[in-house]
Amino acid sequence: MGEAVLPRLTVIGTGYLGATHAVCMASLGYDVVGLDVDERKIKKLQSGEVPFFEPGLPELLAKTMESGRLRFTTSVEEAAAHGDIHFVCVGTPQQPGSDACDLSYVDATIRGLAPHLTRRCLVVGKSTVPVGTAARLAELLRELSPAGDEVELAWNPEFLREGFAVDDTLRPDRLVFGVASEWAREQLAAAFQPILELGTPTVVTDLPTAELVKVAANSFLATKISYINAMAEICEATGADVRDLAKALAYDDRIGGRFLQPGLGFGGGCLPKDIRAFAHRAEEIGVGQAVSFLREVDAINRRRRSRTIDLVRELLGGQLDGKRVACLGAAFKPNSDDIRDAPALDVARTMHGLGANVRVYDPAALDNARRAYPELRYGTSAMDVAQDADVVVLLTEWAEFREIQPSALAQVVKHTRIVDGRHALDAEEWRAAGWEYRALGCP
Ligand code: UDX
Repeated sequence: MGEAVLPRLTVIGTGYLGATHAVCMASLGYDVVGLDVDERKIKKLQSGEVPFFEPGLPELLAKTMESGRLRFTTSVEEAAAHGDIHFVCVGTPQQPGSDACDLSYVDATIRGLAPHLTRRCLVVGKSTVPVGTAARLAELLRELSPAGDEVELAWNPEFLREGFAVDDTLRPDRLVFGVASEWAREQLAAAFQPILELGTPTVVTDLPTAELVKVAANSFLATKISYINAMAEICEATGADVRDLAKALAYDDRIGGRFLQPGLGFGGGCLPKDIRAFAHRAEEIGVGQAVSFLREVDAINRRRRSRTIDLVRELLGGQLDGKRVACLGAAFKPNSDDIRDAPALDVARTMHGLGANVRVYDPAALDNARRAYPELRYGTSAMDVAQDADVVVLLTEWAEFREIQPSALAQVVKHTRIVDGRHALDAEEWRAAGWEYRALGCP
């Protein structure tokens, strides 16, 4: 296939998803323009800087910028003129005060782009949206585009995990093409040709199914995590050990061990808001009962946070007020600087509100945490925040926390007490070093 036939791509929205997609597609040989309304973000990307923490992405950005195949702009006219295929990667957060999905960025993108679409092209939604959105947007595009019926819409949900975003994008476990015509399928096949050539399984389907795949997948993952955390609650009441339970379940390959790690539960910019938006959308269209269990999945997940604080309080003899608490971790998971709905910061803030003297350290998320929660105190390392601590609480399972020597940490704390919110440490090793060790769901 000659260079000339490669479709020219735009990527609209340069957050975690869009920036990664733009860089990866350019690295595969496509000519890509990334568009965002945020000038700060675009300036950073233009100067070769990734505005968030994602392993491997800065190196790949530098390489692709050099190749001349990747540009960033705030000009929608420039993007519209460039693209044969426009990927929509803007955020769909939770609406404040509601479980519903906030579609204002997606709508604004379509309304901004459509008036500049003067020739045949494909607009591809990658953002996670409530089922039915694509059909509405397709209509809107036809209405507002000078090219009218020549502009088609497809849906291509994205399953990348933060921390593994480059690999997940270049070597996804599957591609889903939600299309309304054979032409749209051909365009998507051309846009993903190098990835299809790897033998990547591809599901070609209609628009609503493609929209649903994403929320169904995230709901399943969230349910699996809350399932094992529900078992942890039972273990806590019975003296059983959820770690051994999870291990034993995982040997059944119908169940499998992934997403079966008990602990503080899930957070981030996807799982929590996606299950809420899904339940909300299902209620709207009259099938709320089918996914009412997602409300319970959410409730179990929230209880893990309060139960973690209970454990800390128990270890402190019933009082948090005035106690020095060292919090290890702020990001919602390791290898990320993302603090959206981060269980770690939720726990830290609540303990601060209960009068504890909380200090937080995280290897990557400190700047974001400081900006969002200036009321908390922060330190420069695990050792630093643990200085004179009455209790240490591990909240995000970064590798550097797993590698801490219990004897070294014991030198700096006031009391050798630790709550392992992520089952990340070897309980025996810590106890042997004289620590009082507690973890959710373990005797
Ligand atoms: C997730 C999905 O995995 C991805 O496919 C989707 O596209 C976006 O949402 P991400 O938010 O990056 O990706 O995080 P993920 O690695 O899936 O972890 C989600 C949360 O679950 C984290 O807070 C993590 O700590 C927690 N988790 C994960 C557990 O508590 N236990 C587990 O066993 C696994």
